[in-house]
Amino acid sequence: MTQDELRALIRTVPDFPAKGIQFRDITTLLNHGAGLNATIAHLADMARASGAEAIAGMEARGFIFGAAVAVQLGLGFVPVRKPGKLPVETIGIDYALEYGSDRLEIDPSLIADGQRVAIVDDLIATGGTALAAAELLRTAGADVGHALFVIDLPDLGGADRLRAADLSVEALIQFE
Ligand code: PRP
Ligand code: ADE
Repeated sequence: MTQDELRALIRTVPDFPAKGIQFRDITTLLNHGAGLNATIAHLADMARASGAEAIAGMEARGFIFGAAVAVQLGLGFVPVRKPGKLPVETIGIDYALEYGSDRLEIDPSLIADGQRVAIVDDLIATGGTALAAAELLRTAGADVGHALFVIDLPDLGGADRLRAADLSVEALIQFE
């Protein structure tokens, strides 16, 4: 499938979750078998080329794409979770979103020192979520050089922020 065909599978919902936000909804892409398959294949190609030894994905939408990429490549998956969900001692970080703020936590014992971990998520907007995840994974000892997304919203500057933090950024689809 071409990137234009994949782009057409994403639904835009105005004023969700707040007035003025154009919400790029991936559920219509997830619901399309060929589209989902092609999306995972593209992301897996990018993750393979990055030399990733493990895949990290952010709750909740990053779990869907990240775990599928990990399975495709036979790699382990590191869940980057919203607060209070992990049953062990965690490290955590607060961060700002396009529409609010939140906190992410990981179990640092899942990361081997120097392990190359690629971040996978559905979408990059301000980049706050991916930067927070990269910082947490690096604190745990990971070598985080690549962040892969289905969708980039370039007007929000997230990819530029990630590049300034020494992350290579790739996305399948852009929405201006
Ligand atoms: C969304 C999306 C990304 C993040 C991108 O997640 O899945 O993780 O926002 O925004 P940013 O680049 O400005 O940080 P959200 O926190 O809404 O959670 P969800 O996956 O549970 O819906
Ligand atoms: N996460 C942050 N901004 C978003 C947007 N505009 N659409 C979907 N998910 C988002």
